[in-house]
Amino acid sequence: MMGKGMRKLVRPLAAGVVLVPMAVIMMAAGRYQETAPAEDVAKGKAAFERRCTGCHSLDRDKEGPRLAGVVGRKAGSVEGFPYSDALKASAMVWDEALLNKWLAGPDTLVPGVEMDFHVPDAGERTEIIRYLRAMSGKP
Ligand code: HEC
Repeated sequence: MMGKGMRKLVRPLAAGVVLVPMAVIMMAAGRYQETAPAEDVAKGKAAFERRCTGCHSLDRDKEGPRLAGVVGRKAGSVEGFPYSDALKASAMVWDEALLNKWLAGPDTLVPGVEMDFHVPDAGERTEIIRYLRAMSGKP
């Protein structure tokens, strides 16, 4: 015999049997969505460090200009960096598509620029650009 009090207890328990697994599945899905981009950004960071840091840093100018915040920045606009006239005159604003072309061949995108380097592998370019996006506050 179930008293009124007992029934009150059983019903939430039954709901728990359904809701708890659902919550677990949703949490697992959420975690997957969080870690995938973070792993991609880590890959991009490694590629950036392998390919770019000989001439670039995120937060100071070296042989190339600082690159933190470059996504969404006007090309050739870091104050005090001695850009080529070609890049300064390009009137581009860096987005992913332009960065992809730039990294594939700077001098093809803007003849006369002075970045004597390119990244032939499209997958590696994508990783690096994802990292630069994240370092521009655009994850
Ligand atoms: C051999 C040195 C060198 C390497 C390696 C190099 N860069 Fe550069 N980069 C430069 C120079 C020099 C400039 C300035 C070009 C100019 O003024 O024409 C530049 C400019 C840039 C710009 C334009 C920035 C702005 O403020 O408009 C971006 C973006 C860039 N580099 C990204 C990269 C990335 C990403 C890598 C790695 C895949 C890389 N560079 C590797 C030398 C280098």
